[in-house]
Amino acid sequence: MRLGLRRWPPPLFVLLVSVSLALHLVLALLSLLVLQRPCDPHSPLRTNAFPHPANSNLTAAKAGSPKLSPDSRNAGSSRKMDSNQNPHAAGKEGHAFSPPDRTGYPVSSGRSMGSSPSKLQALFSHPLYNLPRPPIQEDDWLLRVKPKVKDNERDSTQEWKDTDLQALLEQLATHRIVSAVQKPGGTQLKLVMSFPNYGQALFKPKKQDRDAETDFNLFYFSDFERHNAEIAAFHLDRLLGFQRIPPVVGRLINVTAEIKDITTDRKLARTFYTSPVGNVCFYGQCSYYCSTEHAVCGRPLALEASLAAMLPDLSLAQRRSWRSPWRRSYSRSKLAQWEKEPNFCATVKKTPPYNKGTRLVDLIDMAILDFLMSNMDRHHYETFEKFGNNTFLLHLDNGRAFGRHSRDEPSVLAPLEQCCRIRRSTLLRLQLLSRPQYRLSDVMRASLSQDPLTAVAPLLSEPHLSALDRRLDAVLQTVRRCQGRRRSVGRSDDVVYDDMAGYAGGDTPARL
Ligand SMILES: *[C@@H]1O[C@H](CO)[C@@H](O)[C@H](O)[C@H]1NC(C)=O
Ligand SMILES: *[C@@H]1O[C@H](CO)[C@@H](O)[C@H](O)[C@H]1NC(C)=O
Ligand SMILES: *[C@@H]1O[C@H](CO)[C@@H](O)[C@H](O)[C@H]1NC(C)=O
Repeated sequence: MRLGLRRWPPPLFVLLVSVSLALHLVLALLSLLVLQRPCDPHSPLRTNAFPHPANSNLTAAKAGSPKLSPDSRNAGSSRKMDSNQNPHAAGKEGHAFSPPDRTGYPVSSGRSMGSSPSKLQALFSHPLYNLPRPPIQEDDWLLRVKPKVKDNERDSTQEWKDTDLQALLEQLATHRIVSAVQKPGGTQLKLVMSFPNYGQALFKPKKQDRDAETDFNLFYFSDFERHNAEIAAFHLDRLLGFQRIPPVVGRLINVTAEIKDITTDRKLARTFYTSPVGNVCFYGQCSYYCSTEHAVCGRPLALEASLAAMLPDLSLAQRRSWRSPWRRSYSRSKLAQWEKEPNFCATVKKTPPYNKGTRLVDLIDMAILDFLMSNMDRHHYETFEKFGNNTFLLHLDNGRAFGRHSRDEPSVLAPLEQCCRIRRSTLLRLQLLSRPQYRLSDVMRASLSQDPLTAVAPLLSEPHLSALDRRLDAVLQTVRRCQGRRRSVGRSDDVVYDDMAGYAGGDTPARL
């Protein structure tokens, strides 16, 4: 793949690289297919979008191009992010990972202080994170590129490997940025950054100090997006076993060399200036927060940012956007329906697509994720059109999470509270994460310590980490309350949606 690709015309390049992420996704999303309800044989649970990262280790691939498995030669499957295409890109130019100097650029740190890598490893080795996966079917591919090699040379297994995720994160963190332009739409400044191999990432800059708590009186959609929230959400989603957030990595950007000097976006270029203390700043153009009052500044050139792997262009893989039934009222005076009607969930349960399959429990999974990270901004969610209505949800756009640690937001948990329904695999993982030997805050700290920006400062402060444990308890209490309530009407068995029927692993989750 690596040699063949270089000779291909650029449009094909672009296609290949952008599809590769999507294909990763599709390969992994079937991992819970086997957990499907026996009575529902024609609605595959396309559940897990991204692989879990047992031992994923950014430092492992530090020097030069990460080595991909032998089948990366296979251009036909094109499911690997090809990090070998540009030998000059990976880790050799030292933009991001040069030793600390006056500008405060970090050294790639990898394992770090006070974390519990062994707990993290133990968690991802647990049977609940290694449930059997069904073989990949033809229509489980989001995109396919015409094979260039003969069929008999192709690798038929096409398994997702953890090294693939590592390679992708490594690329996002270290590859040379060749272009940076604004992403149109949205209320806040975002850039699309491109790499020499035509891979792309969505850039969100640091706008406020990590520990600045969101003002309690702020109307919830006015909060700034947080780069560390995007990164932390990706880690949390994997720890919960969902894997529905595309990979995100932290990176120190040289505002001058990696944005100002290379951008072809004239509207963006016009907004650069040097602040009175000598920092290089810019503010771009967008509908709300793009003005000198909201400028983003390097120190003096170094700027923390999150880089998220881009999903394939909509022209290649159309996505469908769904309004969440539990979306907030964006009116200052009106309550949303779910806040007024005690029996709201009964209505939702009768409404397609929530009336069958796993959509309702998928939505509740998402509500649990959002409650844990206190994200109030989930008015819509997306799915891939190609997979129809019965597919996994993408947990995109998490920049408004982790705004507060001192307070919880119980309303985010309304879908669970009102429907009293939870996937069995989710519940078992939550119970696991509440035990001291796998404690959520500990595995989260360990997981986040693998991100390069940890070298600058921990991505989540301790109060945010302990809030995770507190909120996890609240979720489990809610489930117990539900079970109590349903028991009183003789229906205690309808709280847990058994997506694990027929599963009997070595360490059977039933024995947890
Ligand atoms: C991560 O990689 C580093 C460097 O190769 C190694 O020392 C460390 O043991 C690895 N950690 C894990 C959890 O694999
Ligand atoms: C950032 O880029 C500028 C312009 O290319 C360069 O002069 C400066 O040394 C760079 N800083 C770091 C820390 O790499
Ligand atoms: C998917 O769901 C939407 C909204 O409920 C519905 O209009 C559409 O017909 C559904 N498509 C299929 C293929 O079931």
